[in-house]
Amino acid sequence: MYKHSTAPIMAASSILRRSVFRTALAAPSTTVRLRNIPAATRFFSNTSAFMSPSPSSASPQATIATGSLPSTIRHPRVLVTGSLGQLGSGLVKELRSMYGNENVVASDIRNAPEDFKANGPFVFADVMDYAQLEGIVVDYKIDWIVHYSALLSAVAEKNPALALSVNMTGFQNVLELAKVHGLRLYSPSTIGAFGPSTPKIDTPDVTIMRPNTIYGITKLHNELLGEYYREKYNVDFRSARYPGILSADTPPGGGTTDYAVDIFHHAVRHGHYDCFLKKDTRLPMMYLSDCIKGTVDHLVHPEMLPQAVYNIAAVSFTPEELASEIRKYLPHFTISYPDPAHPDFRQAIADSWPASLDDSMARRDFGWKEEFGMEKMVKLMLDKIQAQVDAEKRIAMTNGSTAAAMSA
Ligand SMILES: NC(=O)c1ccc[n+]([C@@H]2O[C@H](COP(=O)([O-])OP(=O)(O)OC[C@H]3O[C@@H](n4cnc5c(N)ncnc54)[C@H](O)[C@@H]3O)[C@@H](O)[C@H]2O)c1
Repeated sequence: MYKHSTAPIMAASSILRRSVFRTALAAPSTTVRLRNIPAATRFFSNTSAFMSPSPSSASPQATIATGSLPSTIRHPRVLVTGSLGQLGSGLVKELRSMYGNENVVASDIRNAPEDFKANGPFVFADVMDYAQLEGIVVDYKIDWIVHYSALLSAVAEKNPALALSVNMTGFQNVLELAKVHGLRLYSPSTIGAFGPSTPKIDTPDVTIMRPNTIYGITKLHNELLGEYYREKYNVDFRSARYPGILSADTPPGGGTTDYAVDIFHHAVRHGHYDCFLKKDTRLPMMYLSDCIKGTVDHLVHPEMLPQAVYNIAAVSFTPEELASEIRKYLPHFTISYPDPAHPDFRQAIADSWPASLDDSMARRDFGWKEEFGMEKMVKLMLDKIQAQVDAEKRIAMTNGSTAAAMSA
């Protein structure tokens, strides 16, 4: 765990001086206030060199009332790796609404759709290529990295060697870049970092962690290495252990909690779902917008917090409980479960994870609080997917009538 010392204060102070010098040249006469930043941290947290508004307090300009250091504060420049995944595109959108499109560089190992590229900078980046990443950091004058590139649990279990490379070498690269270039690094962990011997109910931040999946092993490695760099080199490493994330607009990337997204699509489109987990498998879950909000609040927090890694949680439910909630809107919805004699490979992964998390430290230290409980989340997921299905039908009808008109 991180302990306070003067070293981080001195390092952060020097970063602040460099940034103030740069921005003072650009706009020497403006005077402003930093909001929500305790006076004691204004000059010693490296965050205070930038505007760090929560989404609700974002404003296009801010300056610092320093007396001797009048200056316009510029927005941080953020690189998001793995930005085309389930979580990345929403986070990029949110950060761009706070800091401006040009200040948020999206990247991935896949090519982005044209409409995504039209909204702001997008670069191809393989996180296993340190030199390529460093070129981006230097060229775009990056201040913060949000590292989302990873192979998720089910995909990783099918290709452990690739998971070791992407999840561990990729993380080591961004961590080293954070050290060399004085960057803040946010890299999420997961409930998969716990293991079968971890207490299952209200699992605390610090507990027994002996994961037995390759995903969990790589993520626990990253947590420990991030803490080591924070302690030894004062790297501002931040992480939260995400539960399963539900979203209607972006498909999940191959995790064990994917059933909780797939079930909605099947319920709306087919009225039935073949679940790959047992009916009583309880896992922690969260709606995407809560995950993005919690991530942003954690990322922009002006101080290095007492812990590098926090649990965050919203709800916990079983497939059967989720199916019952869906039936309130779709009474004819049916669900089936695997033959107990032939469980899906993801059952063993789920069985090794906590059923619920204690996230009281995140609530205390950066004000984490979810907006979506089970009822609200289910209603919104069904509404959004129904809207998608209706739109698809309209397009099919338009295409059908166009084809009929052309053949007539
Ligand atoms: N989605 C969840 O339910 C969940 C839960 C817990 C933790 N997390 C964590 O959140 C982060 C984002 O997850 P996600 O759901 O968006 O994942 P995802 O699988 O949907 O997206 C990951 C992205 O990483 C990219 N990628 C893969 N290999 C790469 C490489 N070599 N270089 C660069 N990019 C590469 C992929 O193209 C993909 O776009 C991950 O660290 C994941 O472990 C997610």
